Amino acid sequence: MAILGNTEKGPLIQHMWDQEKAHRAKFEELIRKYRVRPTVMTPIWNVAGFMLGAGSALLGDKAAMACTVAVETVIVEHYNDQLRELMQDPNINKEILDTIKQFRDEEQEHHDIGIDHGAEQAPFYKAFSEFVKFGCKTAISISKSIV
Ligand SMILES: [Fe+2]
Repeated sequence: MAILGNTEKGPLIQHMWDQEKAHRAKFEELIRKYRVRPTVMTPIWNVAGFMLGAGSALLGDKAAMACTVAVETVIVEHYNDQLRELMQDPNINKEILDTIKQFRDEEQEHHDIGIDHGAEQAPFYKAFSEFVKFGCKTAISISKSIV
């Protein structure tokens, strides 16, 4: 939104951002409710996330869409891993399960929006996509290991 907010892609990006804000608010609510300690890396991921999004948007709207597609690919896989794990629990927590399922579907929608809006026509799509996916996977594994 900082870079492309006033372009024709603005409303589309606003729609995805609104959903992301709802995801964050819900997870922050669940963190408080279940007294989970969030990763100490959060402030760093906030800055890294902004720089990744704004940086790719500076390369153009197709690069921003390519970034979106790469991030959402990793996030959908991450949610699916969590769903598989949750479903092995006989005392499954329905609220957490339903929340992750809904968010997984919305992230899949963001992925599909990115594809529909030219992600694959971004310059150096393959290399850029692999770079962003690697960054996201690294952030997830760091967050898991250092809590
Ligand atoms: Fe998303």
